Parts: sequence; structure tokens; C-alpha cells
Amino acid sequence: MGVPRPRDTFQRPLRDLRISVMDRCNFRCPYCMPREQFHDAYRFLKSTERLSFEEIVRLTRLFVHLGARKLRLTGGEPLLRANLADLIGDLTTIPGVEDVALTTNGVLLAKHAAELKAAGLHRITVSLDSLEPQVFARMSGGFGGLDEVLDGIEHAQRAGLAPIKINAVAQRGVNDHAIMSLVERFRGTGVIVRFIEYMDVGNRNHWQPELVVPSKELVARIGERWPLVPLERNYRGEVAARYAFADGQGEIGFISSVTQPFCGDCSRARLSSDGILYTCLFATHGTSLRDVLRAGATDEELTDLIRRIWVARSDRYSELRASLRRSSGEQRKIEMYYIGG
Ligand code: GTP
Ligand code: 5AD
Ligand code: SF4
Ligand code: SF4
Repeated sequence: MGVPRPRDTFQRPLRDLRISVMDRCNFRCPYCMPREQFHDAYRFLKSTERLSFEEIVRLTRLFVHLGARKLRLTGGEPLLRANLADLIGDLTTIPGVEDVALTTNGVLLAKHAAELKAAGLHRITVSLDSLEPQVFARMSGGFGGLDEVLDGIEHAQRAGLAPIKINAVAQRGVNDHAIMSLVERFRGTGVIVRFIEYMDVGNRNHWQPELVVPSKELVARIGERWPLVPLERNYRGEVAARYAFADGQGEIGFISSVTQPFCGDCSRARLSSDGILYTCLFATHGTSLRDVLRAGATDEELTDLIRRIWVARSDRYSELRASLRRSSGEQRKIEMYYIGG
């Protein structure tokens, strides 16, 4: 396209755009939207505060112009956004877009899988922390049903939304005793299970280092039962370290953002559902592209703004976690439900 692609202060390009389309969720995972805080009277965004599909598509085109190739739609729960397939249809046809994925908790997936595929969605990632009904209920805050999620995964498989990935957050004393059943269930099915180390995202989840289950430990435990062979990363900046089952039954991944941070290759920009651009999952502030857009800015002005923000970017929170946590006690970080994973 002949335009200079911005690089941040660590020479990282902008390759991924993660778009949160909905701040609401139909789950209340205690590590993300604890029930006592996200109650009936909680003030979520008004629909006029959220970016319209037209605004999302316009901004996405500008990000693609600046180098973004991968799009991921997140929430909250993105399938709560009405007519989401229409947005996907528009995003997948933007020239330059190579990969469009969606992260969902899966409860509404059975209903939507076929239309998402028909709209051009490439693949899907389902958050599923445990197959044990009691553990599942605890980790989803008592909302949603495990059977619905599993049914959703089956519908997604049938619709051809491949490869399907499962993201499971591992928490010490909560679901770490129950990880083997997840591995067993999806081994050999083409579905890729990935375990995520529990992170100190936001300010509400009472994170403590003791609750993190280091990936190394999980690799050892799983490898003892089903020998694992390390695989190369699929692409630079991939968050998951991949392993193949030695017996040919597929692959498994580990996202170790606490014990082995991957900021060095982080090329992710995040757009909240009300149009604020954040350059890190742990950001304490962002820039409202929506306000600038709604004030009548041209595409050139918006592109220039995004470029300037990216060029000034110096985030590497996960690499600095220990020292930042010591020094910045009261800083308000953005919340996961608001910005997506
Ligand atoms: P693939 O494209 O399928 O490789 O996945 P992805 O890179 O889009 O990752 P996904 O959204 O599935 O991320 C899985 C989880 O990894 C997220 O829910 C987060 O918990 C964590 N994660 C993703 N991106 C980042 C990041 O930039 N920083 C940190 N610290 N964690 C991240
Ligand atoms: N640490 C790690 N992963 C998290 N997720 C939500 N909160 C956290 C956290 N504190 C995961 C969800 C989902 C994705 C969007 O982010 O389980 O898979
Ligand atoms: Fe749970 Fe995801 Fe909803 Fe947060 S956004 S409450 S992690 S399902
Ligand atoms: Fe990227 Fe921030 Fe995550 Fe590091 S902590 S990988 S900079 S989003």
C-alpha cells in the first residue's frame, strides 16, 4: 500500500487489532466480573456510547492501513451484540485483513455458529475453564450452562469454524485439579485447548501470585500422562507456546504471560466498545477515537492520531509486573470485561 507502517519505541509493528464490541456479559466469572460488583444496577455503556458497526468498520480500515492483519472480536460477550454477523461480513471483506476470529463464552454459540460462518468468520475461541459442573459453575459465577457451551462447540465444529480453540484460565485451588478432563475430552478432536496463567488484569479480581499455576507445572503434569513435543510458534508474537501430543492426537497450548512474558513481540492494539484505543491489556489510560471521530475528524486525521499513539507506545507491563505492582499501588487499570482478553 506504500504507506510507512508505524513501529513503537521497541520497534514493534501494529499487526493485531482486538475489538471489543460489547461490555456486557452473560457470565460473572469471579476473576473478571465478580457478581457482587457487577449487579443489576451496574451501569454498563448505553448503546449510543458504543461504537456503531459503521464506526468500527471505518476505524478498522484505518488500522489495516497502518499494518493490522489480524482482527479479533471480543467482549464482554460479543454474541450479546445484536446482528454481529453483519459486522463480521463487513470486516472480512476489508482488503488486507487476513484473519478474523471471535472469542466467546460459548453459551449463545449453538444459535449463532452457522450464521457467523456464513458471514465469513474464520475461526472461534471458546473460554471454558472446566468440565466439572461444580467448578464450571463457580468459575462462571453461576450463570450459563456447561451443556450449552459444549453444544456451542459442537455447532461451531459442524459449521467449519476451524480451528476451534478453548481458553482455560488455570487458578490454583479452583480448577487446577480438574485440568486433565479438559485435555482428555478434546484430544484427538481437532479442538486446541490452551491454558492461560491467571493474570492481574483490572483492579477487581483479588489477584495474588499464589493463585497462578505456572505453565511449566501443567506441561509436566500433562506430559506425564500424554507425552508432549514442543512445536514452533505459528507466527511471530503468538501468545501460546504450542506442543503436539507425541501420539499424533493434535496439539495443546500454554499462555504464560506471568512466568514467561511475551511483551517483546506484542503487536496488539485494543479498541474498547466505546471506541477507546489502548496499547496494552494492563493500560491505565487510553485515547478516545470515538470522540475524535464523532467530532468530525477525517480519515487522515484519525490515521495520524493512531499512528502517533502507536509510535509513542512503550508498554511492556508483563515484563515489568513485579516492579510496577510495587511502585504503582493505586493506578486504575482497565478491566478485562471492558477490553476483552
Ligand atoms: P491466536 O490468534 O489464536 O493465536 O490467539 P490470540 O493471540 O488472539 O489470543 P487469544 O485472544 O485467544 O488470547 C488468549 C489469552 O491470552 C487472552 O484471553 C489473554 O488472557 C491472553 N493474552 C492475549 N493477548 C495478550 C496480551 O497482549 N498480553 C497479555 N498479557 N495477555 C494476553
Ligand atoms: N487472567 C487470565 N485470563 C483471563 N481471562 C479473563 N480474565 C483473565 C485473567 N484475569 C480470559 C478469559 C477468556 C479471555 C477473554 O480472557 O477466560 O478466555
Ligand atoms: Fe467470564 Fe469472559 Fe464474561 Fe469475563 S467476559 S465474565 S471472562 S465470560
Ligand atoms: Fe502486550 Fe501489554 Fe500484554 Fe505485554 S502486557 S504482551 S505489552 S498487552
